[in-house]
Amino acid sequence: MHLTAARLDRINPSLTIAIATKARALRAAGHDVISLSAGEPDFDTPENIKQAAIRAIEAGETKYTDVSGTPALRQAAAEKFRRDSGLDYRPEEIIVSTGGKQVIFNAMLATIEAGDEAVIPAPCWVSYPDIVALAEGNPVLVPCSQNHGFKLRAEDLDAAITPKTKWFLLNNPCNPTGAAYSAADLRPICDVLLRHPDVWVFSDDIYEKLAYDGFRPATVVEVEPKLRARTVTMNGCSKAYAMTGWRIGFAGAPVALVKAMDKLQSQSTTNASSISQAAAVEALNGPQDSIGRMVQVYNERRDLVVSMLNAAPGITCHKPDGAFYVFPAIHGCIGKTSRNGQTISDDESFVTALLEEEGVAVVHGAAFMYPGHFRISYATATELLREACTRIQRFCRNLS
Ligand SMILES: Cc1ncc(COP(=O)(O)O)c(C=O)c1O
Repeated sequence: MHLTAARLDRINPSLTIAIATKARALRAAGHDVISLSAGEPDFDTPENIKQAAIRAIEAGETKYTDVSGTPALRQAAAEKFRRDSGLDYRPEEIIVSTGGKQVIFNAMLATIEAGDEAVIPAPCWVSYPDIVALAEGNPVLVPCSQNHGFKLRAEDLDAAITPKTKWFLLNNPCNPTGAAYSAADLRPICDVLLRHPDVWVFSDDIYEKLAYDGFRPATVVEVEPKLRARTVTMNGCSKAYAMTGWRIGFAGAPVALVKAMDKLQSQSTTNASSISQAAAVEALNGPQDSIGRMVQVYNERRDLVVSMLNAAPGITCHKPDGAFYVFPAIHGCIGKTSRNGQTISDDESFVTALLEEEGVAVVHGAAFMYPGHFRISYATATELLREACTRIQRFCRNLS
């Protein structure tokens, strides 16, 4: 008897989770493993946010809320969009979900018909193609090379759009490359989108606050207000406020789409956790200085990792403007043999040998639809990062 439905065959289990699981198993077996594979801040949630959650529990805010979120959080999200990006969303144009991931899931499932296409710049976050595929859509990946800082070129977007294109998904700053788009970078992309009035735009700005050396990532609607009527502006608390486990994401979108997402969510998870929503109100409305402190640490770590990786033979590492990832190329390592006799034929064999021989867990580029590279998350203690990069240098030096 066949247990699972055909729709499950359209998707893959998350490869980033698979690597993290293997690293945990090696560690449990007594190996000294440094994992740089997780996409979450190593910082604790700021104290004022935790206290807001405790107060919510004590005040009995433990019941169902409106599906699209509490009035207080929708208002706070609307104010966040106005404050940070000059966007004018009314609370009824806001939906709160269980993580940004559920916002993406809701938007794709609520709108994609079988055979519709979603244009996704690659390298991309592991979940985009699978969520599109689950909704019976076809992901159309547009390669963005390291030569252009892993940023999408407007002409490549134009060439990828067909009459079947329903969505264009942009992640700014990007997981896994850290590539970030300023307002000037987005202008030509918006011009292409203006010429294709049937394409909806999903702007995943979840790493917006994590940008370095004064770089300011922009969002699509602020650059081109004419796209507002067909854009989802998504953000959340996971990355900026070190709140991955609290599961709060939100988006501004046209009312018709918010209603469609609300309908879908009402038959799945209902509302995001009432306690997490109360905490998110404090995150958005309360003091913002914890972000600056975390960004300063990430900035130092990025500089350390990029310089140490570029000193490893066979690796070239681009210095990105945002998120907490780097995505080095390993072209100079391919075809070589490791100290223990493993052949490095591609990015997957590279990360496997690196984990087994040096105890450093990173994720291979193919997981992000872009082989020949690997991803490091530098949301890890600085001393561990230094040790991990020293091991990577040794691993590369020992290739012959
Ligand atoms: C690009 C991107 N978008 C969205 C998410 C979803 O985050 P969450 O569901 O925790 O809000 C992540 C998390 O890793 C991500 O990397």
